[in-house]
Amino acid sequence: MKNAPHAANSPATTAEERPWWRDTIVYQIYPRSFRDSDGDGIGDLNGIADRLDYLHDLGIETLWLNPIFASPNADNGYDISDYRRIMEDFGTMEDFERLLREAHARGMRILLDLVLNHTSDEHPWFAEARTSRENPYYDYYLWWPEEQGRPPYRKSHFDEEADAWCYNPPTRSYYLHYFARQQPDLNWDNPRVRQELYDIMRFWLDKGVDGFRLDSIPYISKDRTFPEIDTEKFPDIFPYYSLGPHLHEYLREMNREVLSRRDCLTMGEGSKVSPEEGRKFIAPERHELDLLYHFGAADIRNETDGLPGGTEAGILYDLPQIKRMYADWDRAAGSGWPTVYLGNHDQPRMVSRFGDDSSRWRGLSAKMLAMFLLTMRGTPCWFAGDELGMANIRFTRIDEYDDIDTRNRYRKIEREGGDTERFLREQQEIGRDNARTPYQWDGSAHAGFSTARPWLRVNPDYTEVNAARESADPDSVLSFFRRAVALRKEHPELVRASFRLLAPDHPQIFAYLREGEAARYLVLLNFSCRPARIAPEAALDGAETLLHNYPTAPPLDGSTVELRPFEGVLCRIAAPAPSAGRTEARE
Ligand code: NOJ
Repeated sequence: MKNAPHAANSPATTAEERPWWRDTIVYQIYPRSFRDSDGDGIGDLNGIADRLDYLHDLGIETLWLNPIFASPNADNGYDISDYRRIMEDFGTMEDFERLLREAHARGMRILLDLVLNHTSDEHPWFAEARTSRENPYYDYYLWWPEEQGRPPYRKSHFDEEADAWCYNPPTRSYYLHYFARQQPDLNWDNPRVRQELYDIMRFWLDKGVDGFRLDSIPYISKDRTFPEIDTEKFPDIFPYYSLGPHLHEYLREMNREVLSRRDCLTMGEGSKVSPEEGRKFIAPERHELDLLYHFGAADIRNETDGLPGGTEAGILYDLPQIKRMYADWDRAAGSGWPTVYLGNHDQPRMVSRFGDDSSRWRGLSAKMLAMFLLTMRGTPCWFAGDELGMANIRFTRIDEYDDIDTRNRYRKIEREGGDTERFLREQQEIGRDNARTPYQWDGSAHAGFSTARPWLRVNPDYTEVNAARESADPDSVLSFFRRAVALRKEHPELVRASFRLLAPDHPQIFAYLREGEAARYLVLLNFSCRPARIAPEAALDGAETLLHNYPTAPPLDGSTVELRPFEGVLCRIAAPAPSAGRTEARE
C-alpha cells in the first residue's frame, strides 16, 4: 500500500471571520415527501413546520427546501410558473411565512431552491413569448428560426427524444430546453431577464430567507451562435455547453446587485464542473457564489471488473477514484470552502449506492457513511432520510415511477425497440425516485407520512426503518447521526481543520487526517463488506476514540489497525504525527 499523501489545504480565515455556513450542515428536504399535514398524500410546508422540533433536536440548523414555488410539476417544482407564489400542493404564502418565523425562532435557517436557468412552459413569460416573434417576451428565451434550417444538435436531459430543441409553430422557430420540453431555457443575455430574476431574489430575501441553492447554474450562459458540436469529440456534450461565455460575468453581476447587499448563503449546483472550474465560482475574491455543490460522487460509475483490489475488495466502485476526487476538490477550493454529499433527490439512496442496504449491513454502512460526511472538510449536504438509513425502493414496473427522467427515457427505449427490462433494472439502482419516497416517521400506515395514499409509494421497509423506532434505540442509525452532529459542535476544530488524504490507493479504506491548530483527528473508514487493515501513518499512542460504529472500538495500540466490514473510527490524536511522508508541517 502506498502512502503518498495529498497536500493539505489550510483554511485561510480565523474563527471570527468565518461565515456561519462553513460550520453548518445543510439538511435537504424534498417537501413533497417529508410530511403531509392536510391528508392529500403530498408533503407540505405545514408538515415541515410540525417537525421543526424533531430536526432541531437532531442538531440541524440549516434547511434547504427543494422548489416550493407555483409549478405544474412536470419536474416536481423545477418548472416554475410563478416565482412569487407557493405551489398549491404545499400550502400558502402565510404557511411559508409561518414556517420561516418558526425556523428563525429556533435559530434555524432556510434556503430556497431557485431555478434560474429555465421556467415552466406555463410561466406567463413563455405563454407570451411563444405567441409571436414580435412579442416583447420572445427575447426572454432562446430560439432558432426555421429559415436557418434544423438547429445544431443539442442534447436534452429529460426529453423523450433527447433533443433540446422544440418547434413552436406560431413563431416558426425552435426553443431551447436543456431539460424537459416543459422547461424552456431563459435568455440570460437579455438584461431585462437578469433584472427580473434579481428582483425575484430580492423578493424572497426581503421575506427573510437565508439564501438559495441555485439550480443548474453552470448552464445559464450560452453561446447563442449555437455552433455545431463534434459529438465524436464530445460524446457527453453537456460539459461542452455548460460554463458558457458570460457565466462568471453574470454571477458577479448577481453578486454585486443582490447577494453582496445581504447576509445570505448561495450554493450553486455544479453539475459538469471540474474542480479547477469549480474554484472560480467560490473563490471569495471573485465575489460570485459561496458554495458549489459538485457532482463528483454522482459521476463515479459502478464497475463490474478492473476494480482496484479486484472483487476481493468487496466494493463495486473505484474507491481510490472517489478519494482522489474529494482530495482534488479540497485542494481546488483554495481560499473558498468545499461541500460534501453522497446523495440527494437526483441520486439513489446513499446507503444503497455507497454502502450495503441488505439487513446485515444497512445499519453499519449507513453509520460509516454518516461518519464520512460529518468528518470531511467542507459543508455537508445531508439528504433527509439518510439519517434513518433509508434505502432504494427499487420499483419493478414503469408505472410505479413518477419521475419525468425515468418515464421519458423508458418511452424512448421502448419506441426504439431497446431493452426496457435492462433499463428498469438499472433504474432500481440509480433512478431518482429511489430517493423521493416518503419520509418514514413511524410504523403506522403510510409510515406516518400521511393519512392518505402517498403520491409515491412508501418503502415497505418502513416498519423497521423509521424515526419513532430509531429514536427509541440508542444503537440506531438515527441515534448515531445525532451523536455525530453533536460531536461536530463539541469539536469546532474538527470542522475547520485541514484535510490530508492517507493511503490514497488503499482499495477498501478511506483514511484521512484533519489537522487543526490545537488538535488533529484521524478518520479510518472501511467502505467494504470485507475486513481490511491499514497502517495509518500517524502515531496512535494516546489516541482518544471519539466515535465508532461497532459496539466496541477497534484497538488502536499497534502500528496497524484492523477494521471489520464497514467499520469506521474517528479519533483525536494528541501528539504530533511523525514527519515522514508529510508534505507540510503546521505545528
Ligand atoms: C437539477 C435538479 O436537482 C433536478 O432535480 C432538476 O430536474 C434539474 N436540475 C432541472 O431543473
